[in-house]
Amino acid sequence: MTTHTPGSIFFESGFPSTARRFGDSPHPARLLTHIGSEQRETVRHLLEETGAVLFRGFEILSIDEFEDAARSLLGELAAYQGGDAPRHAERGLVYNASGPDKSRAVRAHNELSYAPWHPGTLFFGCSVVAEEGGATTLFDGRRVYASLPAEIREAFRDRGVTYIQHLPHAAGDRSGIKSWPETFETDAKDDVLEHCRANYTSARWTPLGLLTTNRTAGTVEAGPDRRQAWFNQAHIWRKDPSTVPDVTDMRRWEAWIGYGATFGDGTQIPDAYMETVQSVLNACEVAIEWEAGDVLLVDNRAAMHGRQSYSGERQVFVAFA
Ligand SMILES: [Fe+2]
Repeated sequence: MTTHTPGSIFFESGFPSTARRFGDSPHPARLLTHIGSEQRETVRHLLEETGAVLFRGFEILSIDEFEDAARSLLGELAAYQGGDAPRHAERGLVYNASGPDKSRAVRAHNELSYAPWHPGTLFFGCSVVAEEGGATTLFDGRRVYASLPAEIREAFRDRGVTYIQHLPHAAGDRSGIKSWPETFETDAKDDVLEHCRANYTSARWTPLGLLTTNRTAGTVEAGPDRRQAWFNQAHIWRKDPSTVPDVTDMRRWEAWIGYGATFGDGTQIPDAYMETVQSVLNACEVAIEWEAGDVLLVDNRAAMHGRQSYSGERQVFVAFA
């Protein structure tokens, strides 16, 4: 689908779909921060059909412009509560997406797929481009699902995933795992346990920290025709059973800080499944080479995202809805 809207925005369908400025504008950012209802509707359709929309040429460079564009396109924004990534709020509900370790790539994931709540939409914006590398990577979850052998995708669709997390009491634990006060953005112990008991499958204190499990979906339906999309990060959380405690044994988990994943029913996910998933993800990777001023909308259920390693100063904001 290609739509021309004279004098403002030119849309093109794809993965990602693109929206470009059409013609001259004295204030390009205003085309997004004050987007018209007809154009917002076109964006919504493209996002639902294709899973991601890249906006180029609108010069969204400051945090103010980013926040205004986010609210204009998404409405109410949400907090990153319960997330495992080391992430700080730049201001209010606008976060820094770049993470501390630029030398390592961030692997494909859906935001908070392991948690009881996940955002429906993500909004990224680049104000400073890395010297080298730093592309945001996108993965069409419906293509990933369709590309996997039936045995693997149906196992995840039918059995789901149980995520285990044992979060340390204090920040700076030598495991490198975020502490529970950092994860839940509060150190009110009773509130955190109450929140976890209400939302997770199980939650309890241990001498080392907070141990939770969350049984949830491994795939979801996405788009207007409700096709199955890959929606899990078992390939990141599941560790080699020879190097960490058997994730099916929760007693041994009390002495181990970290993350694990099993099938929803608690049985081990075979090594060979994870190897196949990783190679399909590699084949489905699409790199978004940022230009300063770009913004990117991602349907968090239809598409996974990641980040290439980089050098230099990279500034990418993210907001959730
Ligand atoms: Fe992410």
